[in-house]
Amino acid sequence: MPPPSEKQFCDFYRRFNSVAGIDFNQYKQDQLTRRMVMLVEQRKLKTFEELTDLVLKDREAREWFLDRLAINVTEVFRNPEHWVFLEQFIKDDLLKAGKPLKVWSAGCSTGAEAYSLASILDVHSPRKPHRIVCTDIDAAAMQQAKDGVLFGTEFRDVPKEYQKYFSRTPRGAAVSDELKKYMTFQRHNLLADSYGTGYDLIVCRNVLIYFVEEAKEQIFRRFFDALRPGGYLFIGGSERIFNPKGIGFECPRPYFYQKPSEEKKWLNAS
Ligand SMILES: C[S@@+](CC[C@H](N)C(=O)[O-])C[C@H]1O[C@@H](n2cnc3c(N)ncnc32)[C@H](O)[C@@H]1O
Repeated sequence: MPPPSEKQFCDFYRRFNSVAGIDFNQYKQDQLTRRMVMLVEQRKLKTFEELTDLVLKDREAREWFLDRLAINVTEVFRNPEHWVFLEQFIKDDLLKAGKPLKVWSAGCSTGAEAYSLASILDVHSPRKPHRIVCTDIDAAAMQQAKDGVLFGTEFRDVPKEYQKYFSRTPRGAAVSDELKKYMTFQRHNLLADSYGTGYDLIVCRNVLIYFVEEAKEQIFRRFFDALRPGGYLFIGGSERIFNPKGIGFECPRPYFYQKPSEEKKWLNAS
């Protein structure tokens, strides 16, 4: 089958968006093309139109396509050397006011990242009603996050002081109820749905790598608006914001961006 034309791509994206509410124009095209080619080979299709019809009419094929897109690889305390700094920002800055924190784990996959956050909060500030909003586009991953069981490589490199929150079971590492009490789960599409406000911390790691630059920039701006002054954004080890100042962020360390506090904004202006 010849490679699809620009018009065929556009048609596929438009029709997919109308049934599944996902705009592929915002995802990097090479990954999508690879997925399309795999599906064509698997189903022995002859034309690009056959592929479009299959994905639109056959729910299973559509979910397979989306499943490939939602690469769910995750693990607790992923890049532990960066989490050391997150722990410091939480302890020395965010918890200083003595108030419960409002945190968003955006693109949380099966929950390893959100449970890492919960264990830091529970160690440094137990008995406070912190709230961790866990969101992802993938409903199956969210269900696993809700169940609170981590499998295989999702559960490795847990720092010693946090191991008490995870118990080994025949199914995997079960998360303790002490962590689950902080969590709320919501299916959410970062490209289309509305964002909350007043977050002390937003953690969005290894999600935006799938998106085109314009989509990333827009999401970083929306994260900025969703943070309270003084709040932090923590991103993945292979990600960066190219023009943080243009958005309004300060960058206290690589992978960490802070919305200036009201006090700092005032000092900068005077
Ligand atoms: C590689 S995982 C990252 C998991 C976790 N943040 C980490 O770093 O370990 C990427 C996640 O992004 C989610 N994702 C992809 N597109 C999304 C979108 N438009 N909105 C929300 N989540 C999305 C996928 O479902 C997947 O769970």
